[in-house]
Amino acid sequence: MRHFTRIADLDVTGVAAILDEALAWKKHPPGAHLAGKLLGMVFFNPSLRTRASFEAAMLRGGGNAIVLEVGSGVWKLEDRKGAVMDGDRPEHIREAIPVLGRYVDALAVRTFGALQDDAADAADPVMHVFRELAGVPVISMESAREHPCQGLADLLTVRENFGDTRKLPVTLIWAPHIKPLPKAVPHSFLLTAAAAGCEVRIAHPPGFELHPEVLAEARLYASQSGGSVAVTHQQQAALAGSCVVYAKAWGPATKNAPGGEAAARVAAHKDWLITGKTLAMAAKDAIFLHCLPVRRNLEVADEVLDGPQSRVIDEAENRFHVQRVLLHKLMNGAVC
Ligand code: CP
Repeated sequence: MRHFTRIADLDVTGVAAILDEALAWKKHPPGAHLAGKLLGMVFFNPSLRTRASFEAAMLRGGGNAIVLEVGSGVWKLEDRKGAVMDGDRPEHIREAIPVLGRYVDALAVRTFGALQDDAADAADPVMHVFRELAGVPVISMESAREHPCQGLADLLTVRENFGDTRKLPVTLIWAPHIKPLPKAVPHSFLLTAAAAGCEVRIAHPPGFELHPEVLAEARLYASQSGGSVAVTHQQQAALAGSCVVYAKAWGPATKNAPGGEAAARVAAHKDWLITGKTLAMAAKDAIFLHCLPVRRNLEVADEVLDGPQSRVIDEAENRFHVQRVLLHKLMNGAVC
């Protein structure tokens, strides 16, 4: 594994290997496995969990991290190919990325999509340039297309609660928001759960489809892992007997956002708020997951987040555990 910016960098066997190792290290921490290593973290967008968990993994492993927030004490960066740079962005990523790569042992990057066009976001152009030009391993802290560390943390949480994930029914369910949000998190839960052999059910209102290439990729992993992927517009059909209820707001990206047609479409589905009644449609011992941050009582009701089935804090903790393993693989050249 040279880079880790997508589940395809691991594949089905690699996902299982990372989860096995993360579970083992959670019980028996590895000590100073990152001594002398330096991670450069580049944020084009804000974060709480991702930033804190990556910094914690580096520092607890005996290494260190440099955090750069683009446009905040760091030059605003242009990313458009062929742009005439006569605006407010004085440096291009084609110089910034290789320069940063000369200072550190690996680069981590968070770069959301523009949310103007689903196809453009799914092409993930900024992440591709990082992979091309960094000169060191690149790890995704969420891009326009995927949030693979989140997907691994999600599945680690599922493994901790249910053991074997093969044929486990899990439901990814759309939730309302004040605006269309990126699809990276639902994409990554779908891909990782399919790679882990789960029976993945996806429920969303019409018009909120996940990217067809990602669905096809998930179905390929499911065919290799013994899992399955099904999509419905019916909450009840997706939730019946399910062991995991994973709620997330997403898309669609359109040129009208924010406040335009896409926002109106999101607002039209406020009744998809995840409540105790929604959770009761799933299996009795189902767990509730959400990547966080979550808008209480807009996306998910208090009774769910504060209830006994919620595992959202464990899920956030597990970001640290999977990233520690990934950083080890990438920075110490360990093959997975
Ligand atoms: N889940 C997640 O990535 O959280 P942050 O956006 O706070 O990093």
